[in-house]
Amino acid sequence: MTDPVAAPQPHQAHHHDPGFWRTYVFSTDHKMIGKQFLSVSLLMLVVGGLLAMLIRYQLAWPNTPVPGLGWVPEPQVVGGVMSPSFYNSVFTMHATIMIFFAVMPILIGSFGNFLIPLMIGARDMAFPVLNMLSFWVAVVASIIMIAGFLVPGGHAAAGWTSYAPLSAVAAFLYGRPGTRPISCMPKRTRRFDGFRPSRTSGSARPMMTDIA
Ligand code: HEM
Repeated sequence: MTDPVAAPQPHQAHHHDPGFWRTYVFSTDHKMIGKQFLSVSLLMLVVGGLLAMLIRYQLAWPNTPVPGLGWVPEPQVVGGVMSPSFYNSVFTMHATIMIFFAVMPILIGSFGNFLIPLMIGARDMAFPVLNMLSFWVAVVASIIMIAGFLVPGGHAAAGWTSYAPLSAVAAFLYGRPGTRPISCMPKRTRRFDGFRPSRTSGSARPMMTDIA
């Protein structure tokens, strides 16, 4: 008589190791995808944080060369000093990256993926391959988003909502420092240029004259 304990169980007999790539890279397991989302989102949180540091640097020391930024070519950065349109790109990308590449993927892609199937007692998400693709599309999108800084004319610079007035003044959005009269500038730029003493005290000089 066969020993029922010693006999191979059906699910053990068919089990095979999916290997490194299917386990850690192109995984369809909701827990692994959740962890992948968390890793990439934390990386993007750092990128968004570095951009926040640039914003704060400009607000704290207007028109001063930013250490480590000297390599960025004109007209984005002139001798280490951020141009107005570059500043706008920086805070636009800060917000866009924080919202769409850090907070949302952490909440939905990471915690949602990891926890919801466990909480409802499901084995996995409904479409695991689609789930995996959603992560890899997000990775490609992150790379494209960062690479936008390399585009001639500069990155998107109209704020993360792309509302007017920032989005409505074409001259303001393209990296052409020194070509725009201060009077034509939207309010946000004036703040940047030192017209809001509470934030940027000591920066009454318009930046245009410095870098034109
Ligand atoms: C150390 C952390 C952070 C610092 C120092 C920081 C700094 C700033 C500053 C100074 C601005 C104003 C830029 C301007 O209008 O000239 C700004 C804008 C913004 N930040 Fe942050 N930020 C931080 C974290 C975050 C996080 C975690 C998020 C998102 C969850 C976020 C979302 C935004 C948004 C949506 C805007 C508005 C940008 C726009 O008007 O297009 N920030 N941030």
